Amino acid sequence: MTLKPAAAVPGEPQTSPRRSLSSSLNLTDKIFSTGRDREVARAIEDGIAALEARLLVETEFNDGLADVAARYLLEAGGKRVRPILVMLTAQLGDGVNDDVITASTSIELIHLASLYHDDVMDSAPERRGVPTAQYVWGNSVAILIGDLLFARSSRLLTTLGEEVMRLQADTFERLCMGQLHETIGPRDDEDPIEHYLQVLSDKTGSLIAAAARMGVVLSNAPRIYEQAVVSFGEKVGIAFQLIDDVIDMSPPAEGTGKVAGTDVRAGVVTLPILYLRKLATTDADAALLLARLENPTDPASNIDDAIAELRVHPVTVATTAEAHRWAREAIDSLGALPDGTVKKTLTRFADSVVNRTK
Ligand code: FPP
Ligand code: MG
Repeated sequence: MTLKPAAAVPGEPQTSPRRSLSSSLNLTDKIFSTGRDREVARAIEDGIAALEARLLVETEFNDGLADVAARYLLEAGGKRVRPILVMLTAQLGDGVNDDVITASTSIELIHLASLYHDDVMDSAPERRGVPTAQYVWGNSVAILIGDLLFARSSRLLTTLGEEVMRLQADTFERLCMGQLHETIGPRDDEDPIEHYLQVLSDKTGSLIAAAARMGVVLSNAPRIYEQAVVSFGEKVGIAFQLIDDVIDMSPPAEGTGKVAGTDVRAGVVTLPILYLRKLATTDADAALLLARLENPTDPASNIDDAIAELRVHPVTVATTAEAHRWAREAIDSLGALPDGTVKKTLTRFADSVVNRTK
């Protein structure tokens, strides 16, 4: 692995170029075609600029190490998808206001906090193109930086009222439950595929849904939109994770030093593997492939070839179809929303989530 230097330079304010809404959500500019579309896109782009400034302020600490380490992953990249969803669903009401920026900042800080912790649990060497925080500073510092970011996230919400604070607490609980259930795996009496989908919903769908809901709550939008955007967020989160399972097996870009099938090689459960386990109970070829994938260090497994086989196997095709089904269901959840920029952007976003290749 090539190590890059830490992105943060203590004491130097970071300025980043203005980000367009379409590039942040991986959409083509053409979707913002009407006057109202462009007005919404501009409002959100102003919101993103305000968010970036606020994130830098909220990650300042008197302690020198905390100050650098807390901004480390923030400055390494990230698409800010969750805060953008807060700002987008706020367009169903009064639009981006100070409370919406505060909630967006808080949501991004929880997300960041969870990444510091997740990388410790996964012993991940790299995130956002830089060595992970625990690789640079060790596990204890990385865990504590996650806790500090979570503290800041919680403090921000104190100005937004009990409903939003409760939503954040419930979401935090689901993030932890998702991660816990992923760690311990399904009970004997539990269906492994249902268990897996619940984990994805808890560890990813919950925060995306909370973001979408906060935008409605904090912009005085009609409450009938709340359930629609929550359901959208949950489902798009599942679709996102399922496509990740497929992307894991794609050949990585040249020069990255990575290999296809990182998760599969590490024994991480993915939907193609769960489907293969089910198939292996009745199909000898599937059982053979599964044995090779589950014993990657055995020379007889020929793991590179086994991953290449899995990539084009019907179980992977079925995983892609399942991801598209969740994206379609996410879009179908939006029925109560008025036709217009928000519905159109959420629809295109769900499509782009499952059509991405990296
Ligand atoms: C990434 O999943 C991990 C999450 C989406 C959630 C992790 C949640 C926690 C660690 C608990 C919450 C903790 C705090 C402090 C809020 P992944 O490993 O599948 O994805 P990756 O490829 O991005 O690592
Ligand atoms: Mg991880």
